[in-house]
Amino acid sequence: MDKSKLPVEQRAALSLLVDDHRSVKKLFKAFQDAKDDAEKQSIAAETCQQLTVHAQIEEEIFYPALRGASDKIDDMLDEAKVEHAVAKDLIAKIEAGNSEMLEAHYTVLSEYVGHHVAEEENELFQAVIRAKVDLKEVAQQLEARKAELTGQPA
Ligand SMILES: [Fe+2]
Ligand SMILES: [Fe+2]
Repeated sequence: MDKSKLPVEQRAALSLLVDDHRSVKKLFKAFQDAKDDAEKQSIAAETCQQLTVHAQIEEEIFYPALRGASDKIDDMLDEAKVEHAVAKDLIAKIEAGNSEMLEAHYTVLSEYVGHHVAEEENELFQAVIRAKVDLKEVAQQLEARKAELTGQPA
């Protein structure tokens, strides 16, 4: 998704979410390139943390802001909620620390999240742009909540 082409009403909010997606994708790649188990464990922990914060700000702020924009968007939000639940289940398994299953759980998580992210960027975000949902305030709320959850200033 080319952030510079996003309409101004949606740019900041969608850019923040796209940046999160890219950051997690980098971690998926880094896991594949990791040399030993310790490195894999630490990349997996970082991935789980980032995904948890990302899912939470989407669920608390972004998805509710889109609710009711169109029937199609509502259907996509229902689907996204189910997908988040599946991802959280995998995250919980990874965080429970069964190292024998780490590779398998992480691989499935990365494939699954890859699919979810593609749907968000290619379908949901496009529908949001078409519906002209004004996300300027939502962007500030997402930033503030993310800063709060990560303990880092926005
Ligand atoms: Fe999502
Ligand atoms: Fe997302």
